[in-house]
Amino acid sequence: MKIMVVGGGGREHAIIKALKKSEKCEKIWALPGNGGIAQDAECVGIGATDIPAIVEFAKNNPVDFAVVAPDDPLVLGCVDELEKLGIPCFGPRANAAIIEGSKVFSKNMMKEFGIPTARYEVFDDMEKALAYLEDAPIPTVIKADGLALGKGVIIAETRDDAKAAVRSMMEDKVFGESGSRVVIEEFLTGPEVSVLSFTDGKTVVPMVSSMDHKRALDGDKGLNTGGMGTIAPNPYYTKDVADECMEKIFLPTMNAMNKLGRTFKGCLYFGLMITENGPKVIEYNCRFGDPETQVVLPLLESDLLEIMQAVAEERLSEVEVKFADRSACCVVLASNGYPKKYDKGFEITIGQLADNADFYIAGAKLENGKLLTNGGRVLNVVASADTLREAIDDAYKASKNITFENAYCRSDIGQRALLALNK
Ligand code: AMP
Ligand code: GLY
Repeated sequence: MKIMVVGGGGREHAIIKALKKSEKCEKIWALPGNGGIAQDAECVGIGATDIPAIVEFAKNNPVDFAVVAPDDPLVLGCVDELEKLGIPCFGPRANAAIIEGSKVFSKNMMKEFGIPTARYEVFDDMEKALAYLEDAPIPTVIKADGLALGKGVIIAETRDDAKAAVRSMMEDKVFGESGSRVVIEEFLTGPEVSVLSFTDGKTVVPMVSSMDHKRALDGDKGLNTGGMGTIAPNPYYTKDVADECMEKIFLPTMNAMNKLGRTFKGCLYFGLMITENGPKVIEYNCRFGDPETQVVLPLLESDLLEIMQAVAEERLSEVEVKFADRSACCVVLASNGYPKKYDKGFEITIGQLADNADFYIAGAKLENGKLLTNGGRVLNVVASADTLREAIDDAYKASKNITFENAYCRSDIGQRALLALNK
């Protein structure tokens, strides 16, 4: 089969490497891919949000199957357009991708169908939002309604910070039109768990759970980033928690989307917080998480392409989705200074890695045969092993064999999970 993968980061590299393991996979195009993905797929210079160009490419090439990985093209209806050409796709249509594309939609859906989440209010009038904040409980959480490159959430520790956040979104439009409506919600506490799932609207099959590390610096300090590392499985996601999530969150979400005429097919990501009152939904994503995918897919023993096809054809219940009973750790090597200012253009040298380790390139370009850094998060180093401790040690060992000037990584990925395991 000839497969088109839309996207160009570490997540897409992990998806492409997993698809290549399938006997049925003959060829992969990546739109746009990146300098590192070019080793595993043919990169085509079409941006992931350029829907007309993606459609044109699909018309002119023998594409048998498409995987649309990032949020923006999904929300913009990339799958709808490709399906019109008769190309089977992995990924939700626009009317289902709204589960990530609008926080107001997803919060209202959860309220209507009794899916546990933080209490909230929606505002499209700034003065009303500011008035509400006069006696809202603090800390509080302010969220821009629409997509904001993963940055539309502000946790305000004081009333003044909360008001400033509302003004920045609604008046200064720091997140563009995404901030015309805001959700103000209850601040929850507890460990966070990411659960990616396959769903075809009839069945929902959770993948192995994972834990993201969003802050830039060790000890969960510093600015929020797109994710500095991940581990799987997440020790807070016990069998009991998993059962409760299936009953109160996963199945009700799938059923709610069906009832609303918005059947979700693809990877549905549940961002959960395990609170004193049970698991609650912090956010939904309409796609594979980044960098969760980079620890989840290396543990997948079944054929990813077969699963994705089964999702597209609504026969997910017929295929096996099996994960290894092992652990994995992903360390993100970033450019020093990320998520603020950083320099680019340094050569990346990749040495020999052990059999249980691999790498995915997130932000790099090829120039005269050299791989050069070209983004904040440059690459992901992943190792899997029988225990989490070994996976962490092996991922850090492997990271020593990949070098570029100005590289930075957190040194404590997985330590919180180890503490939880040893409690
Ligand atoms: P993101 O939506 O990925 O930018 O992530 C926002 C992050 O903010 C989450 O991973 C949580 O750590 C945090 N967060 C979001 N909503 C809440 C909430 N209601 N209570 C506490 N923390 C939250
Ligand atoms: N790692 C969180 C996300 O993909 O949004």
